[in-house]
Amino acid sequence: MTSMPTVLLLLSFLCLAKSGVQEDQRSHITPGSIIYPNARAWPSPSGRFAFGFYEQDNGFRVGIWLLAKRNKIVWTANRDDPALPFTSKATLKFTEDGKLVLTNELGEMRLIANVTASSASMLDSGNFVLYDKHKKIIWESFQYPTDTILGGQNLYPGSRLFSSVSETNYSAGRFHLEMQEDGNLVLYPMYTDNTGANAYWSSKTFGTNTKFHLYLNSTGLLQLINETDSSIYNTLGGASYSSAAYRSPLGYHPYSYYNNQNKNTTDSIIYRATLDVDGIFRLYSHIYNGSGEVNESVVWYALKDTCDVNGYCGFNSYCTYNDYQPTCLCLPGTDFVDQFHSIYGCKRNYTEAQCKSDKANAHHFSIETMENMVWEDTSYSKEPMSVEECSRSCLEDCNCEAALFKGGICMKQKLPLRYAKRDFQSEEESRALLKVGKRRPEEHDIRPIPPPKLPVYHIKSQKVVVEVLLLTFSLVTFSCVFLTIFGLFVYKFRVLRYKRLLEDRNWGLTKELTLQLFSYDQLRKATNGFKEELGKGSFGAVYKGTLYKGRETVAVKRLEKLIEEGEREFQAEMRAIGRTHHRNLVRLLGYCAEDSKRLLVYEYMANGSLANLLFKATRRPDWNERIRIALDVARAILYLHEECETSIIHCDIKPQNILMDDTWTAKISDFGLAKLLMGDQTRTFTGARGTRGYMAPEWQKNTPISVKADIYSFGIVLLEIICCRRNLDTTVSKTEEIILSTWVYRCFVEKRLDKVVLGEEVDKKNLERMVMVALWCIQDEPALRPCIKSVVMMLEGITDISIPPCPTASLSSM
Ligand SMILES: *[C@@H]1O[C@H](CO)[C@@H](O)[C@H](O)[C@H]1NC(C)=O
Ligand SMILES: *[C@@H]1O[C@H](CO)[C@@H](O)[C@H](O)[C@H]1NC(C)=O
Ligand SMILES: *[C@@H]1O[C@H](CO)[C@@H](O)[C@H](O)[C@H]1NC(C)=O
Ligand SMILES: *[C@@H]1O[C@H](CO)[C@@H](O)[C@H](O)[C@H]1NC(C)=O
Ligand SMILES: *[C@@H]1O[C@H](CO)[C@@H](O)[C@H](O)[C@H]1NC(C)=O
Ligand SMILES: *[C@@H]1O[C@H](CO)[C@@H](O)[C@H](O)[C@H]1NC(C)=O
Ligand SMILES: *[C@@H]1O[C@H](CO)[C@@H](O)[C@H](O)[C@H]1NC(C)=O
Ligand SMILES: *[C@@H]1O[C@H](CO)[C@@H](O)[C@H](O)[C@H]1NC(C)=O
Repeated sequence: MTSMPTVLLLLSFLCLAKSGVQEDQRSHITPGSIIYPNARAWPSPSGRFAFGFYEQDNGFRVGIWLLAKRNKIVWTANRDDPALPFTSKATLKFTEDGKLVLTNELGEMRLIANVTASSASMLDSGNFVLYDKHKKIIWESFQYPTDTILGGQNLYPGSRLFSSVSETNYSAGRFHLEMQEDGNLVLYPMYTDNTGANAYWSSKTFGTNTKFHLYLNSTGLLQLINETDSSIYNTLGGASYSSAAYRSPLGYHPYSYYNNQNKNTTDSIIYRATLDVDGIFRLYSHIYNGSGEVNESVVWYALKDTCDVNGYCGFNSYCTYNDYQPTCLCLPGTDFVDQFHSIYGCKRNYTEAQCKSDKANAHHFSIETMENMVWEDTSYSKEPMSVEECSRSCLEDCNCEAALFKGGICMKQKLPLRYAKRDFQSEEESRALLKVGKRRPEEHDIRPIPPPKLPVYHIKSQKVVVEVLLLTFSLVTFSCVFLTIFGLFVYKFRVLRYKRLLEDRNWGLTKELTLQLFSYDQLRKATNGFKEELGKGSFGAVYKGTLYKGRETVAVKRLEKLIEEGEREFQAEMRAIGRTHHRNLVRLLGYCAEDSKRLLVYEYMANGSLANLLFKATRRPDWNERIRIALDVARAILYLHEECETSIIHCDIKPQNILMDDTWTAKISDFGLAKLLMGDQTRTFTGARGTRGYMAPEWQKNTPISVKADIYSFGIVLLEIICCRRNLDTTVSKTEEIILSTWVYRCFVEKRLDKVVLGEEVDKKNLERMVMVALWCIQDEPALRPCIKSVVMMLEGITDISIPPCPTASLSSM
């Protein structure tokens, strides 16, 4: 008899265990579970959501998606990290000690959830949660929304949704939705300050002194909830909401529809509110009709017209519709920054330098008008006048690059223009006037020269014919005798000349095209026995010399301390350098490789180095000149990094290596040489090259060197250009000013940048821009530094710059 309860107990225990196992398979994830790309994911019980690796443009990411015809990504872990390559052997593990860890192919680990959990679960709501021992939720993906909130999810005061870059790239993109502390829910473009001028939509729920949070209830209503008493303050719109705020384009109410058909409405419809790639916040419903079909439709949207989204088009371009598709077009006088990405904006296609403040401007510029155009008003002058006066006034004013004529007021302003769009609704006519640079007159004034008219002879009589024949005969005879004598004479002369030609072979056209091989003797003669030393660099001394009988001055560099390398490799290297041509790079004219001697012949730079100009000259170059030099240097780096056949890392950018030619154009020298001294640049190496003070921190860390090392050096050089002093200067009076980068950052934070230019008259905005670019470049973390293309665009003022963080960790404690 005693066995009976035991058996029952055992049976019930077995049942429990069995159900436990089943739960394991479905949504109860135990420590030690692991998933791989392209393999199993963790689904929710209903199977509608899953957590795991999903595919993006260029690799795998970890996130949660809603299963549909085209899976909808609703959450992504560490979305701004680079995606994992397709070939990756990455793993996602819920570790034994209860953490969620992503390990990439190199074995590097990235924490997704830094907690100590005892179980995890993918819920049917689309929330991935981690529980502690007492089944209390200690981490949930709902706490970290990316671009979407799902039914039952909140967006708390101070938190944001960021749109994705594109439909296939889920990194943070160009717009954000902010639940502000003042109770207002607002849409802004990225990289702007959160002011009303930048906002393009808001819920207009401010001024109540109450904090609200945004809540999407599971039956599809978007609500603002009073933080203090959890009451509903306002319903923005949604599935079953029919008021003025409800602007369903379909006039269709899935909620009520489903009420009639099926009681399990919440199970059959999934709602998500997403800040879409185009900057519009939309509420979608996904209706599961029981046979596996899903119908997705828009239930509510914040605004309808994409062109009303501020920043949908980049600077100097305007938004308009082409076949109902929003399109970005360049304003007159500008061209796309990037032909293939019209949303990146446009830049001016004529130079400012041509503008002189006089009537002659009419030759160089014209005004183009566009009707029904509006843009953000950042005008420096607003005056009532007629359209014609406005147009003339802008043409004659060098500061005026565009003007908006609206309601009899002429508003003149400089580029860049933001938030431009066509506006056909407004009753008030608004006309855009844009200054456009004409092509240089000499370019279109050249017309083909008509061929000269040949004289026409009319032969009149027989007599004349005989005379002409006689004359011709005697002429021919005479010529023959003359030519024979002349020929003999010339023969000797020609041989001589040919010899000379060989010598001068490279003078002229060939010089432009090929790299010349010199003998050591030639160069010794050219430099007068290496007499006049111009300077000493990290690679060896540089001597002044002349070639082609004194017709061309050159600089000859005698290389020392080279790594062992055969002549062939050296020649290959030289040819690679010889193929680089850019107006901001010092040209390599030729080289010599004899025995162990290695010499390089460069064009001569008459005005010395940037270091002399900045630190030693009696006259500081003025601000505009300095900006131009900075741009010259940045463009040269852009060419080296991105436009050469193979990307060249300079490794030693510093003012001593930036030379000034006779027109004061800055040119970078010594590029491509780093390779000769270090071997393969892409490898990790410990022997640091470069110059202290300009060297990126990663040189000391034994990590691979990338193009970002040059960006760091450029940042330091930029600061030196801005302030006209060395990065390290022990002669200053205050110790806090010794290291320039530290001091500039401090001044930047204190908003006292006037100190760094020592009271020089400088456009404040401009100075701040330059400093911000430099501070971004000198970030300790290479990934934070911008690429050189962005640097150029920021310097040119084409893109906005966000506030840089503190460049080094050691500084932030200050
Ligand atoms: C996705 O966008 C980010 C941010 O703009 C960018 O860094 C990344 O290269 C993009 N990925 C692809 C595959 O284009
Ligand atoms: C994880 O959390 C612990 C405790 O809060 C903290 O000490 C540790 O630095 C965190 N690790 C990471 C990588 O954030
Ligand atoms: C969503 O909000 C509406 C309106 O307040 C309410 O009638 C409905 O019951 C809510 N749904 C849920 C699931 O709470
Ligand atoms: C929010 O709730 C608090 C507490 O009930 C109340 O005093 C306040 O007026 C509410 N705010 C709004 C805007 O309704
Ligand atoms: C509604 O859902 C519950 C479980 O969530 C299920 O038991 C019930 O059968 C469903 N009803 C209908 C009409 O599908
Ligand atoms: C679900 O929708 C599909 C296509 O819209 C339709 O063919 C199918 O009959 C529907 N099933 C039910 C049960 O309504
Ligand atoms: C999806 O829903 C929309 C909106 O009611 C409807 O017009 C469309 O026919 C539906 N599509 C399918 C395939 O059921
Ligand atoms: C600039 O672009 C406009 C078209 O937007 C063109 O008409 C003009 O000729 C261009 N100017 C120059 C100097 O290329």
